Amino acid sequence: MKPVEIAKGIYDVGVIDWNIRDFHGYSTYRGTSYNAYLILDEKITLIDTVKKEFADELMENISSIVDPNSIDYVISNHTEPDHSGGLARVMHRIGEDKPLYCSKMGAKNLALHFPQKWNFKAVGSGEELSIGKRKLTFLETRMLHWPDSMFTYLQNEKILFSSDAFGQHYAGHEKFDDVIGDAIMPHAKKYFANILLPYSNLILKLVEQVTALGLEFNMICPDHGVIWRQDPAKIIQAYIEWSKQEPEKKAVVIYDTMWHSTEKMANAITVGLIDCGVTVKPMHLRKWHRSDIMTEVMDARAVIIGSPTLNNGLYPTVSDFLTYMKGLKPKNKIGTAFGSYGWSGEAAKLIRNELEAMKIEIVEPELRQQYIPDSEGMNACFELGSKIGRAIAG
Ligand code: FEO
Repeated sequence: MKPVEIAKGIYDVGVIDWNIRDFHGYSTYRGTSYNAYLILDEKITLIDTVKKEFADELMENISSIVDPNSIDYVISNHTEPDHSGGLARVMHRIGEDKPLYCSKMGAKNLALHFPQKWNFKAVGSGEELSIGKRKLTFLETRMLHWPDSMFTYLQNEKILFSSDAFGQHYAGHEKFDDVIGDAIMPHAKKYFANILLPYSNLILKLVEQVTALGLEFNMICPDHGVIWRQDPAKIIQAYIEWSKQEPEKKAVVIYDTMWHSTEKMANAITVGLIDCGVTVKPMHLRKWHRSDIMTEVMDARAVIIGSPTLNNGLYPTVSDFLTYMKGLKPKNKIGTAFGSYGWSGEAAKLIRNELEAMKIEIVEPELRQQYIPDSEGMNACFELGSKIGRAIAG
């Protein structure tokens, strides 16, 4: 990607990763981008870098605008390697002793990633840095989503460099929200559901903090995906809504199956839910990626999970999903478990235990069917779906 001048004298010098399809367990069907920002002022400043394997492309992009040696300051908003991986290349090229601004945790974490003794300048919330005509303010956003995370705010142009926040894993020619339109929102939602959901309370507090500071945003520049310049308030409002985790009248039936019996149960439960007029998403764990399922879970009221019993335990895909969902800490859910079994039949109980550990309210006992559900068994599944449907519909 060639650099894009996003405002006068301010460039996105980042790169597009068209081919990435798995981002530490998150499916990135549309690739992603690693955005990095270059500000030309009396002190030329680079905000963030890119993944290590794209460092040459970053350097080419910078070189097409300025001699990299003329960069005076580097700011690292976040240590995760998709943004710091190019730091070694950048610092080597511009001079290892150039000031490297980051949060206190950033200095600690960068030192744990890189052996070089860089000239760290640890900054805290509210600290300012003059770069000539412009002034930057730092805002620590600890645990959004790493301990080192921070925002950098450009006072003059009212631009927020928001690191991972407000990002989307999306590779495209569109650089701005007004170019792509609402088509970007599902990508932003999936990103929130799979990365930021556990930090919902922190996000609501951060919004309060930013509101109290009276900060205004003409533009929000995340480190992934498109830049919000037409309507930055739209993505902030979406974050507030997603953080509240107020569910819709919706259920997700998540399952895997060995010989189609648990699938039959899932289908009958789904029909029972549909009969109550609620939105239902039946999701087979080998047909849907865990990160797409999690996006549906985020705004669902009910999560109903099924597994056959395999060797006295859960089907491996179900274990995988439960582990993934547990880490993302969804709130305000009801649910139950179900599954077919041959002789021992532990799976449904094991799922129930996991749901309880996630503080998901078990509104109906788990339902098991031996081998192949007969018509009575199918009726029991339909009835389970109906009961949960009625609980959702209120
Ligand atoms: Fe895009 Fe937390 O890294």
